Amino acid sequence: MKEKYEITSLENSENKASLRFLDEHVAKKTAKYHGSFPAYEPTPLHRLKGLAKYLGVKDLYLKDESFRFGLNAFKVLGGSYAVVKIIAQRLDMEVEDLPFEVLVSKEIKEKLGEITFVTATDGNHGRGVAWAANQIGQNSVVYMPENSTQERLENIRKENAKADILPMNYDECVRYANKMAEENGWIMIQDTAWEGYEAIPTWIMQGYLTMAYEAYLQLSLHQSVPTHIFLQAGVGSMASAVTGFFASVYMQNLPVVTVVEPAKANCLYQTAKYGKGEDLVFVTGEMDTIMAGLACGEPCTIGWNVLHSYARHFLSVPDSTAAHGMRILGNPLKGDERIISGESGAVTIGVVSQVMERPDLQYIKERIGLNSDSVVLCISTEGNTDALRYRELVWDGLYPNEEELSWNKK
Ligand SMILES: Cc1ncc(COP(=O)(O)O)c(C=O)c1O
Repeated sequence: MKEKYEITSLENSENKASLRFLDEHVAKKTAKYHGSFPAYEPTPLHRLKGLAKYLGVKDLYLKDESFRFGLNAFKVLGGSYAVVKIIAQRLDMEVEDLPFEVLVSKEIKEKLGEITFVTATDGNHGRGVAWAANQIGQNSVVYMPENSTQERLENIRKENAKADILPMNYDECVRYANKMAEENGWIMIQDTAWEGYEAIPTWIMQGYLTMAYEAYLQLSLHQSVPTHIFLQAGVGSMASAVTGFFASVYMQNLPVVTVVEPAKANCLYQTAKYGKGEDLVFVTGEMDTIMAGLACGEPCTIGWNVLHSYARHFLSVPDSTAAHGMRILGNPLKGDERIISGESGAVTIGVVSQVMERPDLQYIKERIGLNSDSVVLCISTEGNTDALRYRELVWDGLYPNEEELSWNKK
């Protein structure tokens, strides 16, 4: 069956989730920790004036996470923050006392002994965890779902991880990693929460705040406040962390948040539509979307509470939307920056472009309230994390925008 756009919207209940764990105070702490890394630099926030004008919105900002610590994706922010929180807890210390140079010291290694961190990943999160473990001389084991590409696997192995692709989907991989952690005394660092496993995913979400906080400061330099934020989601940890942060700093002027998922793995869309508030709806099966980072079928419990309170719209979109976004960002209009964005990174720009341009999506544009007064923020959460696939999509035109071609011809 051909995938198509679908939207569902929430009224956002009166009884809202607390944002204390995602507010500016926490974000400053997280950013300070990441700022202690020698490789740290804020990733750029581009103002795409040409594209904004072309699409008919007031402003369009894009944060480019391909520059994050040389790892080509934002994900390391979460894994590395969880690692320092775990170590702080073990040593009865504060994160403030464990900046990078202390964390990697021989003294800390001796105090800790050998630790093995384990995780399941589509690629980016596992690479971040493996990198963080490697930096502090510890071990990591990483499990990847079937359909994971060799390039992503090799990038994780380069960080000294024991990494393998298993014959199961992402959510099954998570359960397998959890079982292995219990059997071997390893520490599971997973970027999603479920009942009884909430502390580490909370820290991971807090780690993502560095990205949101940077964007907030960068937007302030332009004296801009977004009216619309588009966030791509797998389990929804990233989307909820960013939503929570912006809801807390812009409480008086809440931006309209739209969560974007691949149609083949749209568990948050399904939960918003059918979940009746608290209940989560799972998507099962292969979830063979090109947006590997978003191929997750089970929402993050703590993330959902935030999205339920503060995200307005949930969009389920075809794979061709991501390919479209990659091509736009890689081939900018005059004066705009060229951005190398991967499948999971580019989907939100693909959405903004198609919703603004396609007559058949006019109803979504109206529902979201996108118009010439809109100031839009998107995050390209990854670069070309699979370079071969990137070329197939951008050079060879895989996953063409069939709908658009057909309405253009009319
Ligand atoms: C590049 C990229 N973007 C977005 C996400 C979505 O994050 P989450 O699973 O927290 O929704 C992921 C997840 O792995 C990712 O790799």
